[in-house]
Amino acid sequence: MKISVKVPATATNIGPGFDCLGMALPIYNTVTIEETVLPGTGVEINVFSDSSEVDELSIEHMELNENSLVYKAVELLFNSIGQTPSELKINIQSDIPIARGLGSSASIIVGGLIAANELLGRPADEAALLSIATEVDGHPDNVTATITGGLVLASQEEDCSVIYRKLDWPDDWTITLCIPDYELTTEISRSVLPKEVAMCDAIFNTKRLGMFIEAINKHDDELMKYALQDKLHQPYRSKLVPGLDKISEVLRHEDSVLGCVLSGSGPSMLVISNKNNTDKIHSVIKQTLNDINIKAEIKTVQIEPCGAQVVSNED
Ligand code: HSE
Repeated sequence: MKISVKVPATATNIGPGFDCLGMALPIYNTVTIEETVLPGTGVEINVFSDSSEVDELSIEHMELNENSLVYKAVELLFNSIGQTPSELKINIQSDIPIARGLGSSASIIVGGLIAANELLGRPADEAALLSIATEVDGHPDNVTATITGGLVLASQEEDCSVIYRKLDWPDDWTITLCIPDYELTTEISRSVLPKEVAMCDAIFNTKRLGMFIEAINKHDDELMKYALQDKLHQPYRSKLVPGLDKISEVLRHEDSVLGCVLSGSGPSMLVISNKNNTDKIHSVIKQTLNDINIKAEIKTVQIEPCGAQVVSNED
């Protein structure tokens, strides 16, 4: 059997929702798992990419062996039904840029997990898939948005279960995505965060997350401008993401711009706006990054409503 699963990229945090808000974006990886017939061939993992974004250095970040995250996820699923994966070929078509805060690891984990679940006759339900994927990836905000699509509020609870609710993103709020051409691993980006934060900063984010939920419920653009702020991670990470503060500051004065936030742990950024005319946003980002010699891909997208999907299943 050969199963392919198409999986979207994700942006998490989205301002005030550090480690709990996630959204799917229309950039995809495809993970294919094939049972190989020859006994003793073990597990083979290959990565392919059509995109110039995935260079050799990026691919080096992925361990293509039994220590890989995708293999760990597949193994946990097999183990949960008392089996061990043996002869498997895992091919990853990687078009989500790696180490850019776009959930490429989560997408590969989830893709592998869903493909393996199909191969095994679907022993795991969504809750089990969420738990295994979160155990391997460590980020419920990423894996939940990858699995469900759309915008989610997700939390891993003490018993390791993941609870989530989907939230409605207004159709006319567009996302301009800026993907710089350098890598920033989540590990490095988390290493600059403090172990503890001031009570006033925690309260600042609590208020903003409440505003975020109300703003999307009521489609309240003015409230969203207050909501898309953060004091828990962006102030610490901005030193690793040159241009972020300047772009936010310049775009703050644009009426159509609701906010500028880091995508996950960066270095990608999202500018959220309420009109389709995004020329000004593109030119501000381009000019600011040009001035500091940073190349980036800039594109305006809509949220991806669909999560990971089986796209082919051959016997
Ligand atoms: N919410 C996590 C972080 C996402 O910001 O560190 C990591 O991909």
